[in-house]
Formats: sequence, structure tokens, C-alpha cells
Amino acid sequence: MSAQNELQATVDALAQAGKGLLAADESGPTIAKRFKTIGVESTEENRRAWRTLLLSTPGLGEFISGVILYEETLGQQADDGEPLPQLAAHQGIVPGIKVDTGKIPLAHASGDEITQGLDGLAKRLEGYKAQGARFAKWRAVYNVSDTLPSRLAIEANAESLARYAAICQEAGVVPIVEPEVLMDGDHSLTRCAVVTEAVLHEVFHALNRHAVVLEHMLLKPSMVIAGKGHALHASVEQVAAHTVAVLGRTVPPAVAGIFFLSGGQTPEEATANLDAINRTGRRPWPLSFSYGRALQESPLDTWCGQPQNVREAQLALLKRARLNAAASLGCYDANEEIV
Ligand code: 13P
Repeated sequence: MSAQNELQATVDALAQAGKGLLAADESGPTIAKRFKTIGVESTEENRRAWRTLLLSTPGLGEFISGVILYEETLGQQADDGEPLPQLAAHQGIVPGIKVDTGKIPLAHASGDEITQGLDGLAKRLEGYKAQGARFAKWRAVYNVSDTLPSRLAIEANAESLARYAAICQEAGVVPIVEPEVLMDGDHSLTRCAVVTEAVLHEVFHALNRHAVVLEHMLLKPSMVIAGKGHALHASVEQVAAHTVAVLGRTVPPAVAGIFFLSGGQTPEEATANLDAINRTGRRPWPLSFSYGRALQESPLDTWCGQPQNVREAQLALLKRARLNAAASLGCYDANEEIV
């Protein structure tokens, strides 16, 4: 298959109407933090057990088209010896891989951060592909205050995202471009809208400079939402209106799909907001989900590291996947939360 056909086939497999992505690519420190909430130690075996539980959920492929994995998981196996990326593929779920190596403070820009991982990326992608990964993810983060993010942070992170995306496409791997405007802080919805618009403008300028084919990439943005510490809680309609306005001004129609991150919203909020976004009318791109916490929180609480809870936890995951799939079509029924 030519590189272009390979990228197109992966995009088509990921951007299916009524399906979204599962982000299960927590780094070592992050998964340890999640496990701590249920009193489970983050050992390699516990991480394998948890991610096997997620990927072996019967019927998950009905609502989930792709899963983002962490490097360690690519090399792990289910109890019966099947490699976990293959287990996902057997469910009709495309395996992908987080390829950035995390964030550090941005030099000469107090309070801003920059994501690392470009060195040796082309070589690493060869290995990930051989292990079954067909798409990748790189997350840039933007802290928000009255003065943050700085122009420097907006430009530097856009440049890195674009370099990453170009390297992926050259390797026949579909890049998910993830610029996350953080919910931490007490900023308003309007401030988040201003920052998100500036961030996305810069990201698409950089993607253009690096000749990234928009049809062969996916965008994973944050929704336009007020900071967690802000006094006013915006309605789902306000979040939806601001989010689609900002995306409409910044994201070219050629982009194959937009898959939101949940970013610390509660599972129910993340579903309700996605639903409201899809009720605002037809858009040039599918608007779906690529949730980590908002999909995993309730199954994780149900599992608690106990083998006898696996089935129940899988049902909890399936429920959130099903409700988010409905929300991606604008037909989520909040009454289903209570059954
Ligand atoms: P959340 O949905 O928990 O924000 O995770 C998505 C993700 O992949 C963050 O990089």
C-alpha cells in the first residue's frame, strides 16, 4: 500500500460516525496517580491487568474505533498470550501510541511548558509500527492566566506539534495533534476562548509550514470551558457555542476529524458537553471524543484491582463508551445516566 493509501485507510478506520477513541496512554507517574485513588500499586503486572480489562471488554468496538496506548502496553500480552495491540485490533479497534516524552518548563518563559520527544522519533515510529501502532499522539499543554500562555509558548509548541505530525505522516502513521488548553486556574470561559483561538491559529499555521496533509491527521483539542476555579459554571449550551465558534474560525474543513479530550471534566459533563456541541448543527468535521479520565474513571472505581470485579468494570466502561458514542451524534439521553 502507498503511504498515502495507508494514511487514508487509518483515518477512515478512526473517523467512523458514532464512534470515538479511548485514551489509555497514561505515563508511569500519571497511571500511578490514577491507581492511588483506588489503593492499587502501579506495578507492571497491575498496569497489564488494567489495560487488558479495558481492551478485552466485549463489544467495545461498537463504540470505540481506536485506542491510544503507552509504549509499555504495546509490548504487553493478555492472559492468553495475545499481544495487547492485537487484542484491540481483533475488536475492530485501531491501536495507536503516545509518542511525546512529556513536558518541561519552557526556557525564558516562566509558567509556560514545552513538550519533548522529537529526537529519534522517526526511528521510534518504525518500532511502534512493527508492534502494530497505526496512529500516534503528541500532547502540548498551555497553562492559562491573565498573562499565560506567552506568544513564545504558543509558537514553540505549535512548531513541535507540526514537526511531530510531519514526521508521523512520512512514516505512514496518522498523527493526532493535541493542543490542550488546561482547565486549571480561575480563568473565565471567554479567556479560554481567546487562548484556544490563538493556540489553534498558530497550530494550523505551523502545520501548513511543515506541509502536513490535513486530510491525514486528526485534531484533539480541549473544549472551551471556564477554569475549575472560576466562580460561574457555564451551561452546556454556552460551552458548545464557544467551542464550535472557535473551531469554526481556526480549523480548516479538510481536517479529517476532531476528537475532544476530557481534561478533568466529570464523565457526565464530558458527555453532556459533547452532545450539546453536536446539537449545534452540521459541521465540516465529525466531532467526537478521545477521552481518558471521562471513560476510565467509573470502570477504575468499579475494578479496584480485584479480579472478581472485571466484568462489572467492563460494563461500566461499555456504558460510558455507549453514551459518548450517542453524544458524538447529538443523541445522548441524560436519563440513561440513572439506569
Ligand atoms: P483526558 O480525557 O483524561 O484529558 O485524557 C486525554 C488524553 O489523551 C490526554 O493526553
